[in-house]
Amino acid sequence: MKYRIAIVSAMLASFMLLFAAGCAQYTEAKNFRTAVEIVGGDPHAGREAIQRYGCKACHTIPGVPGANATVGPSLDKFANRSFIAGEVPNNPTSLIHWIEKPHDVEPRTAMPDMGVSEKDSKDIATYLYSLR
Ligand code: HEC
Repeated sequence: MKYRIAIVSAMLASFMLLFAAGCAQYTEAKNFRTAVEIVGGDPHAGREAIQRYGCKACHTIPGVPGANATVGPSLDKFANRSFIAGEVPNNPTSLIHWIEKPHDVEPRTAMPDMGVSEKDSKDIATYLYSLR
Protein backbone atom coordinates (compact mmCIF):
# COMPACT_ATOMS: atom_id res chain seq x y z
CA MET A 1 0.00 0.00 0.00
CA LYS A 2 2.68 2.47 1.06
CA TYR A 3 4.66 1.44 -2.00
CA ARG A 4 1.72 2.23 -4.28
CA ILE A 5 1.28 5.67 -2.70
CA ALA A 6 4.96 6.38 -3.28
CA ILE A 7 4.67 5.46 -6.97
CA VAL A 8 1.56 7.58 -7.42
CA SER A 9 3.23 10.56 -5.72
CA ALA A 10 6.34 10.17 -7.85
CA MET A 11 4.18 10.10 -10.97
CA LEU A 12 2.24 13.16 -9.84
CA ALA A 13 5.47 15.00 -9.09
CA SER A 14 6.89 14.28 -12.54
CA PHE A 15 3.67 15.39 -14.24
CA MET A 16 3.79 18.64 -12.29
CA LEU A 17 7.42 19.20 -13.27
CA LEU A 18 6.67 18.56 -16.94
CA PHE A 19 3.69 20.89 -16.75
CA ALA A 20 5.78 23.65 -15.13
CA ALA A 21 8.53 23.29 -17.77
CA GLY A 22 5.92 23.44 -20.53
CA CYS A 23 4.43 26.61 -19.06
CA ALA A 24 7.83 28.29 -18.78
CA GLN A 25 8.57 27.53 -22.43
CA TYR A 26 5.15 28.73 -23.49
CA THR A 27 5.59 32.01 -21.58
CA GLU A 28 8.99 32.61 -23.13
CA ALA A 29 7.67 31.93 -26.66
CA LYS A 30 4.72 34.25 -26.14
CA ASN A 31 6.84 37.01 -24.58
CA PHE A 32 9.45 36.68 -27.35
CA ARG A 33 6.72 37.06 -29.99
CA THR A 34 5.35 40.20 -28.31
CA ALA A 35 8.86 41.66 -27.93
CA VAL A 36 9.60 41.04 -31.62
CA GLU A 37 6.35 42.80 -32.55
CA ILE A 38 7.33 45.80 -30.40
CA VAL A 39 11.01 46.15 -31.35
CA GLY A 40 11.63 44.04 -34.45
CA GLY A 41 14.96 42.50 -33.35
CA ASP A 42 15.88 38.91 -32.57
CA PRO A 43 15.53 38.02 -28.86
CA HIS A 44 17.71 34.89 -29.13
CA ALA A 45 20.54 36.91 -30.72
CA GLY A 46 19.92 39.57 -28.06
CA ARG A 47 20.39 37.13 -25.22
CA GLU A 48 23.60 35.92 -26.85
CA ALA A 49 24.84 39.52 -27.33
CA ILE A 50 24.13 40.30 -23.66
CA GLN A 51 26.53 37.46 -22.78
CA ARG A 52 29.12 38.56 -25.35
CA TYR A 53 29.24 42.20 -24.16
CA GLY A 54 29.45 41.18 -20.51
CA CYS A 55 26.39 43.05 -19.23
CA LYS A 56 26.26 40.45 -16.45
CA ALA A 57 29.26 42.12 -14.80
CA CYS A 58 26.77 44.66 -13.44
CA HIS A 59 23.20 43.45 -13.97
CA THR A 60 20.87 40.68 -12.86
CA ILE A 61 19.15 39.54 -16.07
CA PRO A 62 16.64 36.64 -15.99
CA GLY A 63 17.38 33.92 -18.54
CA VAL A 64 21.06 34.89 -18.88
CA PRO A 65 23.32 32.36 -17.11
CA GLY A 66 25.50 33.92 -14.40
CA ALA A 67 23.86 37.36 -14.65
CA ASN A 68 23.35 37.95 -10.92
CA ALA A 69 25.31 41.16 -10.33
CA THR A 70 23.99 44.09 -8.32
CA VAL A 71 26.19 46.99 -9.51
CA GLY A 72 23.43 48.34 -11.75
CA PRO A 73 19.67 47.78 -11.40
CA SER A 74 18.15 44.36 -12.01
CA LEU A 75 16.65 44.12 -15.49
CA ASP A 76 13.96 41.71 -14.27
CA LYS A 77 10.52 42.62 -15.74
CA PHE A 78 12.17 45.37 -17.75
CA ALA A 79 9.21 45.54 -20.16
CA ASN A 80 7.08 46.84 -17.29
CA ARG A 81 9.52 49.61 -16.28
CA SER A 82 8.21 53.18 -16.82
CA PHE A 83 11.58 54.94 -17.10
CA ILE A 84 15.08 54.06 -18.28
CA ALA A 85 17.65 54.93 -15.60
CA GLY A 86 14.90 56.97 -13.95
CA GLU A 87 15.36 59.58 -16.69
CA VAL A 88 13.61 58.93 -20.00
CA PRO A 89 10.30 57.19 -20.73
CA ASN A 90 10.87 53.53 -21.51
CA ASN A 91 10.27 52.98 -25.22
CA PRO A 92 12.20 50.97 -27.87
CA THR A 93 13.90 54.00 -29.50
CA SER A 94 15.21 55.32 -26.17
CA LEU A 95 16.25 51.87 -24.98
CA ILE A 96 18.24 51.14 -28.15
CA HIS A 97 19.87 54.59 -27.80
CA TRP A 98 20.62 53.89 -24.12
CA ILE A 99 22.27 50.53 -24.82
CA GLU A 100 24.40 52.02 -27.62
CA LYS A 101 25.35 55.30 -25.94
CA PRO A 102 24.18 55.62 -22.33
CA HIS A 103 26.04 58.94 -21.89
CA ASP A 104 24.05 60.56 -24.72
CA VAL A 105 20.92 59.84 -22.70
CA GLU A 106 22.28 60.60 -19.21
CA PRO A 107 25.75 62.24 -19.22
CA ARG A 108 26.45 61.45 -15.54
CA THR A 109 25.40 57.79 -15.57
CA ALA A 110 27.70 55.15 -14.10
CA MET A 111 26.87 52.74 -16.92
CA PRO A 112 29.83 52.58 -19.32
CA ASP A 113 29.62 52.81 -23.12
CA MET A 114 30.08 49.13 -24.06
CA GLY A 115 30.60 49.78 -27.79
CA VAL A 116 27.40 47.92 -28.68
CA SER A 117 26.60 47.95 -32.43
CA GLU A 118 23.25 49.19 -33.75
CA LYS A 119 22.09 45.69 -34.67
CA ASP A 120 23.16 44.19 -31.34
CA SER A 121 21.44 46.93 -29.33
CA LYS A 122 18.20 46.33 -31.25
CA ASP A 123 18.43 42.59 -30.52
CA ILE A 124 19.31 43.24 -26.86
CA ALA A 125 16.36 45.66 -26.55
CA THR A 126 14.10 42.97 -28.02
CA TYR A 127 15.30 40.47 -25.41
CA LEU A 128 14.85 42.99 -22.57
CA TYR A 129 11.24 43.64 -23.70
CA SER A 130 10.56 39.91 -23.40
CA LEU A 131 11.18 40.25 -19.64
CA ARG A 132 7.73 40.99 -18.28
C1 HEC B 1 30.02 48.62 -15.23
C2 HEC B 1 28.66 48.28 -14.93
C3 HEC B 1 27.64 48.15 -16.06
C4 HEC B 1 27.73 47.38 -17.20
C5 HEC B 1 28.89 46.52 -17.67
C6 HEC B 1 26.45 47.53 -17.87
N1 HEC B 1 25.63 48.36 -17.16
FE1 HEC B 1 23.68 48.81 -17.58
N2 HEC B 1 23.62 50.02 -15.97
C7 HEC B 1 24.62 50.22 -15.06
C8 HEC B 1 24.21 51.19 -14.08
C9 HEC B 1 25.04 51.69 -12.90
C10 HEC B 1 22.90 51.59 -14.43
C11 HEC B 1 22.02 52.62 -13.73
C12 HEC B 1 22.20 53.86 -14.54
C13 HEC B 1 21.54 55.11 -14.01
O1 HEC B 1 20.52 55.02 -13.32
O2 HEC B 1 22.05 56.19 -14.37
C14 HEC B 1 22.56 50.81 -15.62
C15 HEC B 1 21.32 50.88 -16.25
C16 HEC B 1 20.94 50.07 -17.29
C17 HEC B 1 19.61 50.04 -17.85
C18 HEC B 1 18.42 50.84 -17.36
C19 HEC B 1 17.83 50.06 -16.20
C20 HEC B 1 16.68 50.72 -15.51
O3 HEC B 1 16.07 50.09 -14.65
O4 HEC B 1 16.38 51.87 -15.76
C21 HEC B 1 19.63 49.11 -18.86
C22 HEC B 1 18.47 48.71 -19.73
C23 HEC B 1 20.98 48.59 -18.94
N3 HEC B 1 21.74 49.20 -17.98
C24 HEC B 1 21.40 47.66 -19.86
C25 HEC B 1 22.72 47.22 -19.98
C26 HEC B 1 23.18 46.34 -21.02
C27 HEC B 1 22.30 45.77 -22.12
C28 HEC B 1 24.50 46.16 -20.82
C29 HEC B 1 25.48 45.39 -21.68
C30 HEC B 1 25.59 45.82 -23.06
C31 HEC B 1 24.88 46.90 -19.62
N4 HEC B 1 23.75 47.53 -19.15
C32 HEC B 1 26.14 46.92 -19.07
C33 HEC B 1 25.84 49.59 -15.06
C34 HEC B 1 26.32 48.76 -16.05
